[in-house]
Amino acid sequence: MSYLNEVFGLRGRTAVVTGGSSGIGRAMAVALGRAGARVLVVARREAPMAEVVAELRGYGAVGHAISADLADRAAVAAVIDKIICGYGEPDVLINSAGVNRRPPLDELTEDDWDVTLAANLTAPFLLGQAFGPRMAARGWGRIINVVSQQAFRAYGNSGAYGAAKAGLVGLTRSQAEAWSRHGVCCNAIAPGVVHTPLTEPVFADPATVARHAARTMIGRNGVPQDFGACAIFLASNAAVAVTGQTLFVDGGYSAT
Ligand SMILES: NC(=O)c1ccc[n+]([C@@H]2O[C@H](COP(=O)([O-])OP(=O)(O)OC[C@H]3O[C@@H](n4cnc5c(N)ncnc54)[C@H](OP(=O)(O)O)[C@@H]3O)[C@@H](O)[C@H]2O)c1
Repeated sequence: MSYLNEVFGLRGRTAVVTGGSSGIGRAMAVALGRAGARVLVVARREAPMAEVVAELRGYGAVGHAISADLADRAAVAAVIDKIICGYGEPDVLINSAGVNRRPPLDELTEDDWDVTLAANLTAPFLLGQAFGPRMAARGWGRIINVVSQQAFRAYGNSGAYGAAKAGLVGLTRSQAEAWSRHGVCCNAIAPGVVHTPLTEPVFADPATVARHAARTMIGRNGVPQDFGACAIFLASNAAVAVTGQTLFVDGGYSAT
């Protein structure tokens, strides 16, 4: 056990998980807590965050909730202050908060574009700018950005969403370039089609669900639990030489 703790254990680490109150982010937040990290969940709604904090407590882990609209720059700045003043500088940053406005491109409004870019790309940039250099100064850190298949290919009205996620893949490389030599490994995780509140409209159509599942190599679509251990890996000492990469946690969806 001591070897596993040495390579994967997160005791003594503080992890910020945006979007940690639902879906993929929630599974990653709980996994990190169970691996020993103190977890700071950031999202807008208080009630789902309280549930996650309670779930963490049930595992003997420590979690705190910070409510903020990450599409609002002033709110992001306030969150950064709150985290640093209230909990200290984090060791791990996971950007999982995301919105999914995807009308056909012809109907995409400037507001759709602004909100999508703000929540899905600018917030990870601002949080990275606040925490990345501090992690580098301390000689250890991990940044994990949740991206999408649509960072790499168009399907289903990728519009602003795909553009933001492609930007986030590029940002991940830039962060890795800037801070890896100071012990801060920065990677992206690309899910396949995962059943969460975000994808309820997709999962409402059995034919679409079956079509996506058939395209995977494991024969099923994703579930949030697929992401817990992967997040532990990328957040841990085990990933010391893994940086600037996108890990596809998609059951082989992108390999077909
Ligand atoms: N599910 C998939 O198939 C899939 C595939 C590829 C990529 N992804 C990506 O995976 C990430 C997680 O998605 P999910 O499927 O787990 O979605 P989800 O269950 O809907 O969770 C989204 C999370 O983000 C938070 N959030 C959304 N907008 C926010 C804002 N403006 N400020 C603060 N928090 C905000 C939500 O909490 P509040 O609503 O309370 O703010 C919630 O915690 C996203 O980045 C998404 O793009 C998902």
